[in-house]
Amino acid sequence: MKKIMVTGALGQIGSELITKLRMEYGADNILATDIRHPQSEAADSGPFALLDVTNGEEMYARAKDFGADTMVHMAALLSAKAEDNPLLAWNLNMGGLVNALEVSRELGLQFFTPSSIGAFGPSTPKINTPQDTLQRPTTMYGVNKVAGELLCDYYYEKFGLDTRGVRFPGLISNVAKPGGGTTDYAVDIFYKALEEGKYTSYIAEGTYMDMMYMPDAVQAIVDLMEADPAKLIHRNAFNVTAMSFEPSQIATAIQKQMPNFTMSYDVDPVRQAIAASWPDAIDASAAKAEWGFTAKYDLDKMTIDMLEKLKVKLAI
Ligand code: SER
Repeated sequence: MKKIMVTGALGQIGSELITKLRMEYGADNILATDIRHPQSEAADSGPFALLDVTNGEEMYARAKDFGADTMVHMAALLSAKAEDNPLLAWNLNMGGLVNALEVSRELGLQFFTPSSIGAFGPSTPKINTPQDTLQRPTTMYGVNKVAGELLCDYYYEKFGLDTRGVRFPGLISNVAKPGGGTTDYAVDIFYKALEEGKYTSYIAEGTYMDMMYMPDAVQAIVDLMEADPAKLIHRNAFNVTAMSFEPSQIATAIQKQMPNFTMSYDVDPVRQAIAASWPDAIDASAAKAEWGFTAKYDLDKMTIDMLEKLKVKLAI
């Protein structure tokens, strides 16, 4: 990884990933691309290009002109948005991925793209979900993710492309808000706690999902991309997780810092059904064994850091 092109660079993960990559590899060696160009640190701290990932020719030109040796493909619609518009999700999530893989094959780039806990479904074992297990997701996002995992494996087997990837859990960040995911409640809750002292959860009490703090997520991307390929038995879709909790547990963690914080519930049937179809707690032992995955933040440590950083951001 020396010259890295990132798609979806102004999204939830990209916004923090760009900062991390520019620190580690030099600002000029990271090309951030996105379909929009609002003012942001990721857009303004180094090279930036507008790019619609469904335009393969444009993607090829941007990668070639930049002299990229690595493609990090992040552009995608999240789970709840994909349910609102399944055909758009198919076209964007699969069309973008195929283009990114093809550009990487043509130019010989190392390749990363994230899968998700959304690649699992109701028939997947819920607890200690194994690395290799049943995957029959019931959402368009999940269908895209499973197809994407298989496609990345296929490009490795067929063309020898150095594809790598993880299955991220819900990601919690204080930089960019997620747009239209199911796990977003675990981000929204921090904003509302600080702004209003209370939160109404659209996910029901008792619904466990895996989660991770964004600094651990971006470190995992760098660690996997830098890992010795000889040690990788899997290449794509490594299960990674840092914690598993349900809404009342994150509320309790916030109450430890803000005793007056309260939470109520107004469950959204669409996102609740998606959450219920996903695992409660996945097993990340393959990622630990094959490339040394670790996470530094547990629920309490993340909660303290989120509240501190958001207080500054929101000037509270
Ligand atoms: N955070 C994502 C979502 O909720 C899951 O990968 O859609």
